[in-house]
Amino acid sequence: MKQIIARKRDGYALTSEEIMQVVSLYTQGKVPDYQAAAWLMACFLKGLNEEETLALTEAMAASGEQLDLSSIPEPTVDKHSTGGVGDKISLVLVPLLAAGGAHIAKMSGRGLGFTGGTVDKLESIPNFRTDLSKAEILAQVKAIGGCLVGQSEGLVPADKKLYALRDATATVESVPLIASSIMSKKLACGAKTILLDVKCGSGSFMSTQEQAQALAQALIEIGRRAGRNMTAVISDMNQPLGRTVGNAIEAREAIETLTPGLPKDSRFLELCLALAAQTFTACRLTTTLEEGEQKAKELLKSGSALEKFRQMVEAQGGDTRVVDDLSRLPSAPVQQAVLVHQAGWITRIDSRAVAEAAADLGAGRQTKEDAIDPAVGIEVFKHKGDTAQPGEPLFMIHARTESAAQQAEARLRTAFELSEQPVAADPVIITRSG
Ligand code: URA
Repeated sequence: MKQIIARKRDGYALTSEEIMQVVSLYTQGKVPDYQAAAWLMACFLKGLNEEETLALTEAMAASGEQLDLSSIPEPTVDKHSTGGVGDKISLVLVPLLAAGGAHIAKMSGRGLGFTGGTVDKLESIPNFRTDLSKAEILAQVKAIGGCLVGQSEGLVPADKKLYALRDATATVESVPLIASSIMSKKLACGAKTILLDVKCGSGSFMSTQEQAQALAQALIEIGRRAGRNMTAVISDMNQPLGRTVGNAIEAREAIETLTPGLPKDSRFLELCLALAAQTFTACRLTTTLEEGEQKAKELLKSGSALEKFRQMVEAQGGDTRVVDDLSRLPSAPVQQAVLVHQAGWITRIDSRAVAEAAADLGAGRQTKEDAIDPAVGIEVFKHKGDTAQPGEPLFMIHARTESAAQQAEARLRTAFELSEQPVAADPVIITRSG
């Protein structure tokens, strides 16, 4: 181990065998944390080339259980978002893709800190189970085309250990380390086509377009070298996605987006359609993005995507009455509007500040063990470029107590800016590739 650390420290490329050895011995507890931490710091400072990044990804993917999708007919697809504020895309996209003929076993995470988690949003549906076994996942995907579950315990143990160590040793923010961590989990889930939604802006990991592009490129490169079909979108995360940030209120917005005839946030819908079009085309269910987008629109309009969502809720033990009666979702006792005081155009809605205010209300957790409050959160009525008149609500706070609502209001008052001059809206899709 000392030799391998020294070679990386001195800027040499490591062989696949050396990387495999580090990952496998560390996962088995045969390498102490101090040596693994030194190795990670050497990787962080000297970087990893494409071969090394792929070797690290494959070694981590092979470190535990994997999902064997060989019994599921193609196209098998998967999706990863690098995480953002108000990102309830999976709740819409998974049933939409399954309704369109793709097979998707989607594993998602829980929220931590200011980031929300798909699993928490789903669990706001009464009785919805996210802890399916591998056999249950495969049976459900075979039967209805999709499932939305938490990450299996035994999947990619090397990443769990290395990520915790990176978190404690200031070695998280490295493109090859982030890319190998993300792709190890995607490779272990077995799908042939992988869609990436790489977020860019204040509410995400990558604050500039250059950083987001570099991460997208690294993720695509790993996937292609590992024989997967890769497609990616870089999307804006400078302002919250859609008009809700929380758990039950995000589930509600996702169901509204799936339901024909209900009002939808246009930026959120645009991103859902673009991601669906990109996936349908990458896995050859459609031949062009235009055709893919048309197919996605029809699946929403006909109610097929909503019906698929209902089937998934039923298969996972959830209360399907929620799908037709959104008042059955948990709701908070206090609702307090934040009104605009002066007329103008919205120049900024800081997604990070909105997310932190929602987390303080109880929508997020500070440690993995904390419980969240599914009912609380923040509705966001405006986006950058919209006009606002005095007395119009900009946010609606859903809180457990009056004092929590007041604290959130004080926070939210610093989370937006208005201008007397017109301001252009920002596109939700920054670039597409693959
Ligand atoms: N998400 C991951 O899964 N891994 C990282 O390293 C960073 C974000």
